[in-house]
Amino acid sequence: MNKIAILTSGGDSPGMNSAIRSVVRCALSKEVSVVGVSHGYQGLIEKRFCDLGRRDVSNIITRGGTFLKTARSKEFYSKKGRKKAHQNMSEKGIDGLVVIGGDGTFKGALVFHQEFDFSVTGIPATIDNDIAGTQETLGFDTALNTAMDAIDKIRDTAYSMDRIFLVEVMGRKSGAIAVHSALAGGAEDLLIPEMEQSVSSVLKKVQQGREAGKKSWIIIVAEGSGKTLTLAQELREHIDDVRVTVIGHVQRGGSPSAFDRILGARMGSAAVQSLLQGKKHHAVGWFNDRPVTYPLQKAIQHKQEDFSEFIELVQILT
Ligand code: F6P
Repeated sequence: MNKIAILTSGGDSPGMNSAIRSVVRCALSKEVSVVGVSHGYQGLIEKRFCDLGRRDVSNIITRGGTFLKTARSKEFYSKKGRKKAHQNMSEKGIDGLVVIGGDGTFKGALVFHQEFDFSVTGIPATIDNDIAGTQETLGFDTALNTAMDAIDKIRDTAYSMDRIFLVEVMGRKSGAIAVHSALAGGAEDLLIPEMEQSVSSVLKKVQQGREAGKKSWIIIVAEGSGKTLTLAQELREHIDDVRVTVIGHVQRGGSPSAFDRILGARMGSAAVQSLLQGKKHHAVGWFNDRPVTYPLQKAIQHKQEDFSEFIELVQILT
């Protein structure tokens, strides 16, 4: 393999820049040149290519987001778009591709490999931590710490004014940020998409707690549960002074944590090794504190997580 391309696709996440830097420098150290592609798969179609040297990735390790920029490309969903992308890469002499992103990015990479027998490796990057086969995705740790910081601040005002706060954290279909931030932030209760919990049972717990003298509550609601508004309405019918805070995209930004920088560096190195070993359709994962590689087919399966122990503990610790 002589020349590889690298792109970031889908939602950005902190740590992507560390992975890009690592891929570029690890590849160059093996005499493999690197082409950066801006705006994800759309950049492959529009030939948004730039050759990357060691110095081109200087000073990006501290930055959130992705210096290559990212996008969700509609054109890449079509065979015509993918054909154009393949043609552009062939003309440029590219014989391997590293994609950094979530499950949509991985699905695109797998189809591209299957259609053109092109070598691809995926680095999992999403704050949702919802990729199968890996214990960690890039950006989750930073987003979790951002959510925890926000919850800590909300706690100050919730306590001072004896208020109930619903705090909505991100996670399209995953309750990972919710369960971890609830435990780390000492929240009283939580709602996640993976587990059925009725709004009325939350209300009952709040009412019982208030009668027993506990005046302020923080309830974490995962975005993917879709229950923030219903719960707020239900609580407001019985209790005054309920407030809702949606942390939102703040969780996607910011300087990556030490963990996400290290994860990016090690996954980037593993991605280059995977391509050089001739693996043609693999993802890099993180298992027991080490990078591992496994087929993309496994990475695009639904990640089944059992969060029941977290939920039980949050409630015991209330
Ligand atoms: O997948 C990452 C994520 O931040 C989810 O938690 C959230 O549901 C979604 O992306 C938001 O997407 P967008 O940035 O397109 O609004």
